Amino acid sequence: MLDLQHVAMEYLPGRPVLRDVNVHLAKGSFHFLTGPSGAGKSSLLSLMSLQHRASKGMITMFGKNVTAMPREEMPKLRRRVGLVLQDYGLLPHLTIAENVALPLKIAGEPAKQIADKVRELLEWVELEQYHDVRPALLSGGQKQRAAIARAVITKPDILLADEPTGNLDAALSLRFMYLFEALNKGGTTVLVASHDEHLISLFNHPVLRLQDGVIVRNNR
Ligand SMILES: Nc1ncnc2c1ncn2[C@@H]1O[C@H](COP(=O)(O)OP(=O)(O)OP(=O)(O)O)[C@@H](O)[C@H]1O
Ligand SMILES: [Mg+2]
Repeated sequence: MLDLQHVAMEYLPGRPVLRDVNVHLAKGSFHFLTGPSGAGKSSLLSLMSLQHRASKGMITMFGKNVTAMPREEMPKLRRRVGLVLQDYGLLPHLTIAENVALPLKIAGEPAKQIADKVRELLEWVELEQYHDVRPALLSGGQKQRAAIARAVITKPDILLADEPTGNLDAALSLRFMYLFEALNKGGTTVLVASHDEHLISLFNHPVLRLQDGVIVRNNR
């Protein structure tokens, strides 16, 4: 499903953030990604979601080599990936409902169907009263819930979630983890980046640990 071999990445020439990363996310698997702040978790997710290019190595996604793929072919693959960004990535000029609807709109779903799904999901994340409100008026945790709703609304083939519970209290964090588990049971391959060792310890999923640009531990 998603395979990285000897992958390196740098923002500044000669200063690699990822040096030699090898990861295989099998179809239907559920992994955690952890490691100290600044280790490169978000950078790794940006490679996996095709926002950045690797400087070395090979990335294969849905059986296609994306390292050599022309830019114009990427949106089609990207649409199969649900992404929860660490800083939410909500568009400030759109309402919460419009933000959550965006992936379905891009996929060309009929408006009525989109409206129904958005309403149902906003109810699930307890943001129904923020339907027509812009993101600036929401708290951090509320924005995070909207970002999660947007990432899962398409039932993506892969869900990449960057600190998805970083702004949620313990009870809500668990609730969202159970949502990710339910998606996973429905076939979605899941990767959750988190520093929350306690949360990670509550689930029996393999842990990828990033340190000094490599994955140092592939299990507990
Ligand atoms: N856009 C950027 N330009 C230059 N350097 C960057 C950029 N984004 C991240 N970095 C650097 O890359 C390194 C890894 O950052 P990254 O955000 O991937 O870490 P992280 O593991 O997600 O950290 P955190 O747990 O704090 O979210 C850091 O040293 C950071 O300064
Ligand atoms: Mg990060």
